[in-house]
Amino acid sequence: MEVFECVSTLSTIRSYKEKKVPDEIVMKVMEAGRLAPSAHNDQPWEFIILRDKTKLKQMDQYCSSGTFIVQVDFAVVVLSDPRSKWHEIDTTRAIQNMVLSAWSYKLGSCWIGRIDKEGLSQFLKIPKEWNILTVLPFGYFNESMISGTKFRKPPKDVFHLDEYGKNIDE
Ligand SMILES: Cc1cc2nc3c(=O)[nH]c(=O)nc-3n(C[C@H](O)[C@H](O)[C@H](O)COP(=O)(O)O)c2cc1C
Repeated sequence: MEVFECVSTLSTIRSYKEKKVPDEIVMKVMEAGRLAPSAHNDQPWEFIILRDKTKLKQMDQYCSSGTFIVQVDFAVVVLSDPRSKWHEIDTTRAIQNMVLSAWSYKLGSCWIGRIDKEGLSQFLKIPKEWNILTVLPFGYFNESMISGTKFRKPPKDVFHLDEYGKNIDE
């Protein structure tokens, strides 16, 4: 899929098919994250690839705003390192690489924001020095469920030409 098509069609997916994701595709998605750029090339991230079905089925306890995570074949717990100044920005770039690459393989995802970080740290034995930035479920989905409409502010509200306040159409 061409990059702009990927960016412009990307949608958050909250319902997934019960279908296995091949290992090669899982690793492509992970590579897309690992290859992201970062300030000073700090690479302030690590990723827990969750494939164990028993663990995945329990993840809803820790992801209250993304309980649909129990439906997927794989998920990624994204860790960022607070010792690096730009850890959240850098790791978010890795996340966007992963989500867009997954989309190009017809895999949907969703940034899960509300996480019981303490509980999840215990569950997955995550050392205290790491920040859990998000958990990303990845899975195939029913394409007919995508509306195709992106609810975004119109260009005139977010673009300025040459100086603040000058409309691009003037
Ligand atoms: C930082 C961040 C946190 C988010 N947290 C959640 C969440 O906890 N649960 C959820 O269902 N969606 C979550 N989302 C998805 C957004 O609601 C979604 O991207 C937005 O509504 C736009 O929809 P679209 O991605 O389909 O265009 C989050 C997105 C971001 C970037």
